[in-house]
Amino acid sequence: MAPWLSKWRRRSTLSTPSPSIEEPVQKAQHKEDKQHDEEKSFQRSEERIEVPSTQSTLLLHAIRTPYVHTSSQPIPTVQHPHELLIKVLAAGLNPIDWKAPDYNFGIPVLPYMSGRELVGTVITPPTSQSSPSRTLRAGDVVLIPSTDYRDLRKAAFQEYAITSSFNAIRLPAQISINEGAILGVAFASAVLALGICMGLSFDSILDGPDLLSIVRSIEPERLPSDIRSECLEGISLDARAHAGDWLVIWGGSSTVAHTMKQLARLAGLRIISVVDSSKHGLRISQHGAIRPDLVVDSHDPERAVSVIQAATGGKVRFGFDTLGKESAAHLARALAPALNGVAAVQLPKDVGEYEAVKSKLPTPPSTPRELAKSATQQAHLVGLTGVPKSDVPEGVALHNVPIKLFHEVPEVGEALSMWCEKLLAKGLVIPPDVVGTVDGLGGINEGLDRLRRREISGGRLVAVLR
Ligand SMILES: NC(=O)c1ccc[n+]([C@@H]2O[C@H](COP(=O)([O-])OP(=O)(O)OC[C@H]3O[C@@H](n4cnc5c(N)ncnc54)[C@H](OP(=O)(O)O)[C@@H]3O)[C@@H](O)[C@H]2O)c1
Repeated sequence: MAPWLSKWRRRSTLSTPSPSIEEPVQKAQHKEDKQHDEEKSFQRSEERIEVPSTQSTLLLHAIRTPYVHTSSQPIPTVQHPHELLIKVLAAGLNPIDWKAPDYNFGIPVLPYMSGRELVGTVITPPTSQSSPSRTLRAGDVVLIPSTDYRDLRKAAFQEYAITSSFNAIRLPAQISINEGAILGVAFASAVLALGICMGLSFDSILDGPDLLSIVRSIEPERLPSDIRSECLEGISLDARAHAGDWLVIWGGSSTVAHTMKQLARLAGLRIISVVDSSKHGLRISQHGAIRPDLVVDSHDPERAVSVIQAATGGKVRFGFDTLGKESAAHLARALAPALNGVAAVQLPKDVGEYEAVKSKLPTPPSTPRELAKSATQQAHLVGLTGVPKSDVPEGVALHNVPIKLFHEVPEVGEALSMWCEKLLAKGLVIPPDVVGTVDGLGGINEGLDRLRRREISGGRLVAVLR
């Protein structure tokens, strides 16, 4: 048994005692029935799938070239007891799938296989389940955020893929396969940004995770070294986000923002969404699930900063940017007045004077750089694709999303996956819109070209493999 699992079992046992000889038989039966009912609310396939000896994949052979649809490739193999083999039914197309090859980042090896999220049918269940409270079985339809981009066995652009049990999210009946294929990366990113970088606890929402407590109760050496400081010192306990706090999301039309707004609202945060109002204003302000408290137009950033400061009385402590270093720089200025008693430096208005964390382009999902941390920081800016590096007001802490927690720390992966199942099953989180589909692996290059041309907005494209 994995060492982390025994800990998980101990904790679970404390909160929900398992049936003992003293417990009435009826109670145990009731529990079993309840578990059975719960399992029935998730999708299953009764189709008998014979795994072939080879498969088709999409391979990238060189930077700035299209992916090549290639047959006769090996089926990826399970290497650990917690891993499972999945037949891919649908793969969501993410910006990283075209940006990585175009700008040469996040490609650890050539030929490379991409694809960061999928829905599929479990073919080979794990021999070691990651939680006593849910069992993954052959035939379960699962959605997978494939954040582990260095492990090509887990990529979505192939017919069969591997995942870890703690990264598999059973698909509730009311979520379509295509919707499930575009939800996972946004969910993992939004939860980790809110739960780790901003310290928001989800324990009041369907027993959601208190991620800060989880990572701070783990032996520090088990946390990946490049995100350890973010996990342990990124935010002090008394600075954690709570109901009533303001959260500004700059780039509020993005898919990650779509999920973040729903989670933040469930937790009682007040949300300001900065978007191109002419393009997204009406849709966002009329959408029951993602409507923020205030929509601010991004066209004139100076004006947007003033509006945010005026609306919040200069008291906004949390910012999330989905676009890049320039908008993150504006957001830093919007957060600056929150620094009660801390002298904010005068920030350059020319955003060109800011540097991105890694480069001019978005960071790949798993390699956030450690940023300077201080327990005395009073405002927290999380950059999904980059943050200002210099001339940041004293007191504004910069954060990258520690996305690798999802696939490298099983306790975190399992907590997110279990909670996601509950939120989706109860309809508390709805997926982004599927704004189009492409046909199979062969249609993905064309779909990514549409992303490059900025034709896809307000949702995602899905490659349908079934
Ligand atoms: N670090 C991490 O762990 C992590 C995790 C997830 C995502 N990301 C990155 O975070 C960013 C946002 O992710 P997302 O999935 O939320 O993005 P998304 O939904 O695909 O779109 C994000 C925004 O980009 C704009 N956009 C779309 N196509 C564009 C193009 N060709 N050129 C310029 N802008 C374009 C869209 O604006 P309009 O709708 O107005 O066109 C939209 O507001 C991406 O760069 C992604 O790679 C990072």
